[in-house]
Formats: sequence, structure tokens, C-alpha cells
Amino acid sequence: MKAFLSLLVLHGTSIFAPAYSFQPGKLASRVAGVAASTSSLTRLHEKNDADLMSTVDEYRNGVTQLLSNFMKKEQLQIDPLADIDFGAPKVAKMRLEELASQVDRELYEKEWFVTGRVNPAYFDGGFQFQDPDVKLTGIEEYARGVIKIFDQATSRAQIISTVVNSTIPNTITVTWRLSGRVNIGPNGLPIKPYICYTDFTINEENGLVLFQEDRFDIPGWDILLSALFPFLIGKVTKEPAPEVAPRVFDQPKSETNLFTGLLKQFGL
Ligand SMILES: *[C@@H]1O[C@H](CO)[C@@H](O)[C@H](O)[C@H]1NC(C)=O
Repeated sequence: MKAFLSLLVLHGTSIFAPAYSFQPGKLASRVAGVAASTSSLTRLHEKNDADLMSTVDEYRNGVTQLLSNFMKKEQLQIDPLADIDFGAPKVAKMRLEELASQVDRELYEKEWFVTGRVNPAYFDGGFQFQDPDVKLTGIEEYARGVIKIFDQATSRAQIISTVVNSTIPNTITVTWRLSGRVNIGPNGLPIKPYICYTDFTINEENGLVLFQEDRFDIPGWDILLSALFPFLIGKVTKEPAPEVAPRVFDQPKSETNLFTGLLKQFGL
């Protein structure tokens, strides 16, 4: 989601125009990857500085702080994540392969990279999301940031794979396709579908997700230009990522056994 805070420049013509016309590359690299936590940033308007500091650990540059002033102000009346128990007990430590497979299935169903419908049981109490501009602590803050920035009617995070990373220790890498719209500007902005990679660092001690970092298969300037000037797609900017085929999961063993067990119980 981080690249989309860059689109906030739309609201700040005074920032956008001079910076963009003189040094587009520099602006793109400065603003792309900013939106780690829309929630945190949006709260800039709603809370005082003291509160804000407890939400965002640090603004790692002044541009982030400045751009946050242009976030769309929109308060949701009902808490869409009210049914998620952020204090739920954590999952017991398991093998990385098992964790990857469980997370894969849940992510596939819930698409929490855009819906915010996380399962807190997988996340360490000290969970952090970080990108070049914003550092964010807490799975609840992450979930609330995600749900706010992505248009919930159209956005998709289609999970392609979730695997144990063969080169980086204690890491699970998710490959997924992002599409839909972001809630930036009066009418929102379209997302040209692109492939994202999420690296989850697993805490060796308790087997929970301690850290998340997102990477993209296209540069920040491509994401930005494609949203602002869709007619450039496939000309200046890359073609949209291809559609993702639906996946079929096996019935989990435990459920199958339980079901078979029940049938036996009733002599069926
Ligand atoms: C493992 O992570 C590295 C660094 O993020 C990445 O370049 C690589 O593609 C990942 N490997 C797999 C199998 O996903």
C-alpha cells in the first residue's frame, strides 16, 4: 500500500507542481513507498501530536509528514474491524512450512493486505511494518491503515503463493497481485494491477510474525504515473499484471478427520 501515499501529491499542487516538473525521479523516489500506514497518517488530522507519536514511531523524513496533511479525511461511522480480537491468543510455534501453509490459506480467503481482516494470532506483540518512509508498530495499526487506504468495494490482494524463503532465514515470502482503487482524492484513484512481494520475518523464539516488508515488481514512479495518467499504461509504464487463476485448496486433514469421525459416530 505504501506507494499510494505518493498520490497525495494530487492534493498539494504547491508541492506537486514544482517538485514534479523539476525532478520527477527524485519526487517519485521520495514519495513512493510512503503510505505504510494510512491510518497513522490520517490520524494526523484527528489527533494531537502526542497521540500521533504513539501511533507512528517516527516520520523518517519531512516529506512524509508534509504529505500526510493532504490525506483524505474520512471517518468511518462503524468500526469495520470490530469483530477482530486483537488480543486473541497466539498460535503455538510450528514449523515454518506449516505456518506458511496456514497463512497462505487464510490470506487467500481474507486478502488482508487490502481488507485489513488480519488474524492477530499469527503476529508478535512487537510486530512492525517498515518502508523507507514510515515505521509502524502493531498489527492493529497495520490493519486499520490498510482498510482505510484501499477502496473496500473494488480492491483485491489475490494471493499467488506463500512459501518459506529459501535464501533468507526465518522468512516467509508471499507473492500477490494488487488491484482496485485507493481512497485518495475526492473520487479515489485506480490501481493498475501489479505484483507485490511481502516478506514476513518470523520470530525464532515464538514462531510469530515479527516484521513485514513489501516490495513491488514495478518502481514507485510507474505506480504513480499509472494512477494519475492511465493513458500511459503500456506505453511509458508497464502493462498491468496478468489475471491470477483461482486456486484450489485441499480440505485440511483435521477437518476431514473430524467429519469422517462424525459420520462414523452416526453409523454413516
Ligand atoms: C527471499 O527474499 C529475498 C529478499 O526479499 C527475495 O529477493 C527472494 O526472491 C525471496 N525468495 C523467495 C523464494 O521468495
